[in-house]
Amino acid sequence: MTETFAKDVDEGLSASPKRLSAQYFYDDNGSRIFQQIMAMPEYYLTDCEREILQTRSREILAALGFSGHFNVIELGTGDGSKTRELLSGFIDAGADVTYVPIDISAAAIEALTGQMASELPGLTINPQVGDYFEIMDKVEAQEDCPNLVLFLGANIGNYAETDAIELLQHVGDHMRSGDRLLVGFDLQKNPAVIHRAYDDPHGITRQFNLNLLARINKELAGEFKLDQFGFFCCYEPSSGEVTSYLVSQCDQEVYIGAIDRTISFGRDELIFTELSQKHTLTQIEQLGRAAGFEFFAHFPDRKKYFSDSLFRKP
Ligand code: AVJ
Repeated sequence: MTETFAKDVDEGLSASPKRLSAQYFYDDNGSRIFQQIMAMPEYYLTDCEREILQTRSREILAALGFSGHFNVIELGTGDGSKTRELLSGFIDAGADVTYVPIDISAAAIEALTGQMASELPGLTINPQVGDYFEIMDKVEAQEDCPNLVLFLGANIGNYAETDAIELLQHVGDHMRSGDRLLVGFDLQKNPAVIHRAYDDPHGITRQFNLNLLARINKELAGEFKLDQFGFFCCYEPSSGEVTSYLVSQCDQEVYIGAIDRTISFGRDELIFTELSQKHTLTQIEQLGRAAGFEFFAHFPDRKKYFSDSLFRKP
């Protein structure tokens, strides 16, 4: 784990332009900061997706067309409170469902499972820690029932188009014919609304990005001075991309013990940290088809800011 992190940091900071992967945002501290992001009024994504799962769960259930028992397999658990809304709607409508949350963090799975079990006593939970794809294969081998796979929270937005297609293709490779996939996408909308969600006035997103450097200091014996780096992000409406960066405030050299290297930064030099892609409904349909799925339906919120879109594995 630390070795992969060290290798990725070494590669990313040797590249031109420099980059660090958004996948490393989420250590304990980063996950805490992300909770704060989700609680900001400017960060509309979480509330929109919660509204969809709260108000449209019966429609989603009907669209699945499953009869009898089925699994809901969730890739990455997040905080679970949105998924609880969906499952609660399914159960109220009389569905016979087993929830299979998958995460690489045992602590995250434990917290989620305990809470979910007490809130939804009628739900069967089969929690799994480990690799998404290995677990999908294992779960499918256990029982011959259909599966709904969830990839929520607009996490797909962190992937550039070809990577997103590849990822969904990979997910599809581990699904059976007739299984469904529900993916959360943030939609293109008034650019000022998107801009505010990322360039937030509280500086929380800035902290979130700086935590990458704090993490390198802590885990890789790095010597970053955090106050020597700023944060910049912008939304480009013509491409639908929010791109985020750390910005070196001066010429500086930073030693990183674990890779025994000193990295030079020029003044205003950027480290690319994150892509948050915003989609149109048409792009979502094309993406699903390019990954080998049949497009089934969009479930947007009332404001049409966000969509949980449903696909079927042919
Ligand atoms: C968790 C990837 C959906 O891109 O909106 C929030 C992460 N980055 N604020 C996003 C994030 C900055 C988030 N995702």
